[in-house]
Amino acid sequence: MPNPNSKTLSHNFNSIEKAFDNNLSGFDFMKIKDDSVVAMRKLFKQNKFFDFIYIDGSHNGEDILSDAIEAFKILKKEGLIFFDDFLQHDKNRALQSYDGIEKFLNLYSNYLKIEYFQNNLVVRKK
Ligand SMILES: C[S@@+](CC[C@H](N)C(=O)[O-])C[C@H]1O[C@@H](n2cnc3c(N)ncnc32)[C@H](O)[C@@H]1O
Repeated sequence: MPNPNSKTLSHNFNSIEKAFDNNLSGFDFMKIKDDSVVAMRKLFKQNKFFDFIYIDGSHNGEDILSDAIEAFKILKKEGLIFFDDFLQHDKNRALQSYDGIEKFLNLYSNYLKIEYFQNNLVVRKK
């Protein structure tokens, strides 16, 4: 269901992406343009594991849950996942961000530790 709150952005994304690449040109980084779940599954197959994962994609609860599950697979032991502004509420969403997070925390409660829980959430993999 289209989100009536969404608006057509008139940004020139080509120039934004050029600025992004330019800003990061001095760093050793890999840019992946893909669906987050598909991309994380590819990284898992490539045995790529991370110390820190920042989740700030779709804020639909079901998408956050999918992102969290795939991110947890490629997170190193003692690694951190940072969930950005998950307390927001959108009446047009079937599953709110925090619903998805709650389900993830219940599913993985034995395998993670909550390090920070305000408007953002940080969990550490045990
Ligand atoms: C909240 S914005 C990200 C803001 C960005 N982290 C920042 O701080 O500027 C969410 C972005 O995630 C993208 N997105 C939503 N669902 C996605 C998915 N499944 N895979 C990849 N990107 C997605 C959206 O197109 C949007 O650009």
